[in-house]
Amino acid sequence: MKTEKDERSDNLKYYVAASVLSADLLNIESELRRMENSGIDILHYDVMDGVFVNNISYGLPVLSQLSKAAKLPIDAHLMIIDPIKYVRRFAEAGADIISFHLESSSDTRKTIEEIRACGAKPALAIKPGTPAEAVYEYLPLLDMVLIMTVEPGFGGQSFIYDTVEKIRKVRSEIERLGLETDIEVDGGINPDTADITKKAGANVLVSGSCLFSSEDMAATANLIKEVPEC
Ligand code: DX5
Ligand code: ZN
Repeated sequence: MKTEKDERSDNLKYYVAASVLSADLLNIESELRRMENSGIDILHYDVMDGVFVNNISYGLPVLSQLSKAAKLPIDAHLMIIDPIKYVRRFAEAGADIISFHLESSSDTRKTIEEIRACGAKPALAIKPGTPAEAVYEYLPLLDMVLIMTVEPGFGGQSFIYDTVEKIRKVRSEIERLGLETDIEVDGGINPDTADITKKAGANVLVSGSCLFSSEDMAATANLIKEVPEC
């Protein structure tokens, strides 16, 4: 007999997103080919402004260059204080998905609308301390919810296990509403933590340090996105 969980695993498609922050930036073109040849589905591009998070990464000019050479879709994860101001420019620079934070100072609904108006897919991100319920009212408007499994700001941190229950709650609400919204998890993802989050309902798995430090990126990517056993 099929359990509710079996149904979920049958229906969900799993994707692995590589966090460019962990790539060898001096050799980005060969890194792009390595990702494409390793079964990576999405490029995850982390933008940090030194205000919303205590770190600065890269921004628009690097994305413009990258998107010209990349064959994979790009998810721009905006860890910036006022994302609505920059949505159009990120879309024009080549972002296919734009993920912004509920905790930012931009109006959530207007930012989602602006992302759609620019032809990109909107995703709403929440930090580990933000409850699941905070995203419920926006679910019908979104393509994806990004549940941070570390505090945003740095690659290479350890997975926060307390976030798993939140993934479960958001997936239940998506199912209750009859939606097909993706749930992305980001931070400390390796084959083991990927398995835990997939069983809880995540289906887009971001990985940085684990993917790029593995000798066989394709094998690691496969493990990260394989359908979980129930
Ligand atoms: C953290 C970033 C993540 C990070 C993931 O603020 O949003 O995307 O680069 O890297 P790992 O997989 O190393 O935790
Ligand atoms: Zn990220």
